Amino acid sequence: MTGSSDVIRVKGPGRLAGEVSVTGAKNSSLKLMAAALLAPGRTVLYNVPKITDIAIMAEVLRRLGCDVRTVPGETPGAGVTAGAGARTDPAGDGLSIDVPDEPGTDTDYDLVRRLRASICVLGPLLARRGRVRVALPGGDAIGSRGLDMHVAGLTRMGAEFSGEHGMIEATAPGGLVGAKVWLDFPSVGATENLLMAAVLAKGVTEIDNAAREPEIVDICDMLTAMGARITGAGSSKLTIEGVTELRPVTHRTIGDRIVAGTWALAATMTRGDVTVTGVDPSYLEIALDKVATSGATVETHPTGFRVAMDRRPRAVDVVTLPFPGFATDLMPMALGLAAVSEGSSLITENIFDGRFMFVPELVRLGAQIRTDGKHAVVRGRERLSGAPVRATDIRAGAGLVMAGLCAEGTTEVSNVHHIDRGYPDFVADLRRLGAAVSREHAPPEPTYAL
Ligand code: EPU
Repeated sequence: MTGSSDVIRVKGPGRLAGEVSVTGAKNSSLKLMAAALLAPGRTVLYNVPKITDIAIMAEVLRRLGCDVRTVPGETPGAGVTAGAGARTDPAGDGLSIDVPDEPGTDTDYDLVRRLRASICVLGPLLARRGRVRVALPGGDAIGSRGLDMHVAGLTRMGAEFSGEHGMIEATAPGGLVGAKVWLDFPSVGATENLLMAAVLAKGVTEIDNAAREPEIVDICDMLTAMGARITGAGSSKLTIEGVTELRPVTHRTIGDRIVAGTWALAATMTRGDVTVTGVDPSYLEIALDKVATSGATVETHPTGFRVAMDRRPRAVDVVTLPFPGFATDLMPMALGLAAVSEGSSLITENIFDGRFMFVPELVRLGAQIRTDGKHAVVRGRERLSGAPVRATDIRAGAGLVMAGLCAEGTTEVSNVHHIDRGYPDFVADLRRLGAAVSREHAPPEPTYAL
């Protein structure tokens, strides 16, 4: 992987056409890696994306004493549990995680700062070791992102929290015990942490208002194969009967619905024709319905879909919500689509308070957008106009590249390391689909002194 100073240069206008396959979901793989901590021995995960966030999570696990290595792709068949629609190609990336009998309990700020998702070791380590110290992640470029629901739920299960010098320390002196937990909001991360704590807790845990994302179902499938007793996966009530131990398994990650959805929206906004494979299209029902409403033809099959567009898109309104609602991670692409659609769109962001922070970058490309709190009103234009812009997070970065495809002239997206966190082979995929894009090393920023 190349350095953080790279830029992606896009020559527009461009049209995406062809076939693209998506690898495993980042937001599943990261949690499946944490779930491996629940059983001593060798867990193998397949269809793991080659992205920076996975590399950082591997380092988190290494510092906890695990031996983490990449392994060749899977031999299809042989006792692998998997989510629907996932890519099974034998060349898919594998990761083996050898977990010691007593994994470590400390995760430092350097890693948690770079990967907020490393907070998901909280539940499994509390369950396995009865003690954990994790750095507080702090804010990031999409909003404040608290941990109150993680802490409240684990406290109900018998954990005690303290914190100083930027670290949270949790202990479970009497072991974790099953409890009834109501989440104020169906938080993905809190549901996962509570789930991974509950599988080894004494007695029954009920998580009400649980997240229903496909990634939650994926982790429930893996935990069940490990010997956990879980009912209600994919519904808003999870019931977990604790067991005394779990065994390591081999599991294939579900396809990445956000990467797949990025291609669906990009095909629509570039008036292209893209077939996406490696993902169950039922993960994307609302997103695919939105592109169909904007005028695209959508065909689905069990392991993918095709989106074809032959005219200027019509404006559609989008409201982000927890699954099965329109995913917040696709909102930057929805803004890009709205920016070139005929008419005005109202985009409402309900999940992250800072997700519109990249809008000024889109405006630099000529998009007509006004934001007010959680709402953005977008007046579509026939074409945008290329300019230098800066990625502020993974999805904003991908959204800016796609917007660049709808712009006259050259768009240069800097801070490409954000895109590397979530999109494997992004530039190669774009080129395969016919886009005139390149990745280049940016010259160092000039420094000024008085
Ligand atoms: N929240 C709290 N308190 C908590 C937990 C969450 O206030 O204890 C708030 C957050 O501040 C946020 C909202 O609840 O406003 C949703 O947070 P959630 O916990 O559902 O999100 P997350 O687990 O932090 C995951 C994904 C995100 C994705 C969201 C929503 C991972 C690693 N990240 O985050 O993905 O946007 O769910 O679907 O799974 C990305 O991949 O680019 C990304 C940001």
